[in-house]
Amino acid sequence: MATREEVREIVEAAEREIPDIRNALDLEEKRVRFIGRERGLITKVMRELGQLSAEQRREIGAAANAAKGRIEELLEIQRRKVHEDVLDPNLDRPEDLTLPPRRVRVGRLHPISQTTREVSRVFATMGFETVEGPEIEWDYYNFEALNIPPGHPAREKWDTLWISNPLGDDPSRPILGRTHTSPMQVRVMEKRKPPIRVVIPGRCYRYEATDAIRESIFFQYEGLAIDEKLTMADLKGVLYSFARQIFGSDRKIRFRVDYFPFTEPSAEIAFDCFACEGRDPGCHVCGGDGWIEAAGCGMVHPDVLRRVGYDPARYQGFAFGGGIERLAMLRTGAPDIRLFYQNDLRYLEQF
Ligand code: DAH
Repeated sequence: MATREEVREIVEAAEREIPDIRNALDLEEKRVRFIGRERGLITKVMRELGQLSAEQRREIGAAANAAKGRIEELLEIQRRKVHEDVLDPNLDRPEDLTLPPRRVRVGRLHPISQTTREVSRVFATMGFETVEGPEIEWDYYNFEALNIPPGHPAREKWDTLWISNPLGDDPSRPILGRTHTSPMQVRVMEKRKPPIRVVIPGRCYRYEATDAIRESIFFQYEGLAIDEKLTMADLKGVLYSFARQIFGSDRKIRFRVDYFPFTEPSAEIAFDCFACEGRDPGCHVCGGDGWIEAAGCGMVHPDVLRRVGYDPARYQGFAFGGGIERLAMLRTGAPDIRLFYQNDLRYLEQF
């Protein structure tokens, strides 16, 4: 016969046993044991209610119902615990962690940036500090301070974008996109005292019909060394060392006299064409010449030194300036400068 005592003992047993459960199988077993339809302990009590007096039936029936509710509650609490702690802590999350991951695209430096850093690194080994300067420049620094007054024929070779001053144009102080990094020679000398050894990489602008080796927006590096006893031999030594490290051991180097208004004497350094090795008269990289100009250089002109207040009898120095894209073409084997700026990742990701 069912008693209140019995119902209380069943609930106590459930309260003891259910919180120990650690997996879904045991949970089901306990469910069957306590409230299963066939042989559940509470089910059995309910079945026996019919044998009781009406008053006892009401009392024990109510207790059995409450016990069933309590046991269901215990089972549900434990079901959640098993689910969360034991099976997989991630199963309730909205994301599907079984999906394959999305590929992460790792970026890289543009070949021009890589080459720029390499140039800085090589000059750093010879004591040159890398500095930067403005891309938008006064006519004074780009031309006049470098012995290129208005009307000088060199201006024709270096036409560029002229920029109007948002504060109002002053016809005596025109502004332009710098055509080379050479204006930084003057800016650095104005700010510092010798000895000076700097290399200046940066973007430049020119009015240019683009071809395989010319762009209207491009990068240069400029070098400047000023001290008391520098000679053309120092210039040559530094540039040869640079050329060997950057051009690689396969390239021939040509060093010959040239003209620039801001150096005296002036020279030019070239490497033999990596595309045709000087064998193709129709080569679109070297134009059939067999040589690619890499840099202009020379001993800084005494007038340039005087203009920044240096005494040319005491201080001399050398300067050089070259195109970064040509070096990048050499390093990557790119047959056309425009490949660097079309932003085609299939091309750029190779380097
Ligand atoms: N700035 C010149 C150019 O763009 C290159 C150059 C020549 C730079 C001689 C120099 C130099 O520093 O000394 O063509």
